[in-house]
Amino acid sequence: NQKAFIFDLDGVIVDTAKFHFKAWKKLANDLGFDFSEAQNEQLKGVSRAASLNKILAWGDMELSEDEFNKQMALKNENYLSYVDTMDEKDILPGVSKVIDYLIEKDIPFALGSASKNARNILKKVNLFDKFHAIVDGNDVTKAKPDPEVFLIAAEKLKASAGNCVVFEDSLAGIQAANIAKMISIGIGDDSILSEADHNFKDFTEVEISFINNLLKEA
Ligand code: G6P
Ligand code: MG
Repeated sequence: NQKAFIFDLDGVIVDTAKFHFKAWKKLANDLGFDFSEAQNEQLKGVSRAASLNKILAWGDMELSEDEFNKQMALKNENYLSYVDTMDEKDILPGVSKVIDYLIEKDIPFALGSASKNARNILKKVNLFDKFHAIVDGNDVTKAKPDPEVFLIAAEKLKASAGNCVVFEDSLAGIQAANIAKMISIGIGDDSILSEADHNFKDFTEVEISFINNLLKEA
């Protein structure tokens, strides 16, 4: 019953969720409309193209394929200008404590993210080499809440789904973990992530004793 852990990236390991929000907001504003922080929740865990589709629907807009691709590229360029400023200090509080503990105990862990920028970001914050496996937006065809990303990660970790523990800040991600029959841990607002098996406001609340209890669970 060896447990394995799967971390989402944006909003769990690093606070890039706020950069995504800023970049999407600029795109919408440039197109002449706006959307709220509550609407932004629906973009968390959602792929770049699917996010743009949702945003355009909110603005009641349609774009040609060319323009759509151009807007996605512009958004990513703007987003990466924020990412460029990142370093180890951008790892969210409490995350390193848990990662270091897993390494100390020889527990395998993977990244399971929808982002095509995930590898780049992990390198920027110096975590790239610590993960046993990385599954990101380049490796999957189906977006969360489809469990594909987590199932591939489990396979790479050689762990059964039931022994995998998933940390997620998005509702789509929690649903994906639940569909995969993994242990889901919501990081963020528990009114949004109420479907998770366990909830924490952020990683500073995730105690080593909690990790130890998970490791002991059958
Ligand atoms: C994560 C984020 C989403 C983002 C998606 C794709 O799931 O939560 O906000 O849209 O990754 O990211 P990318 O870096 O490929 O645009
Ligand atoms: Mg996330």
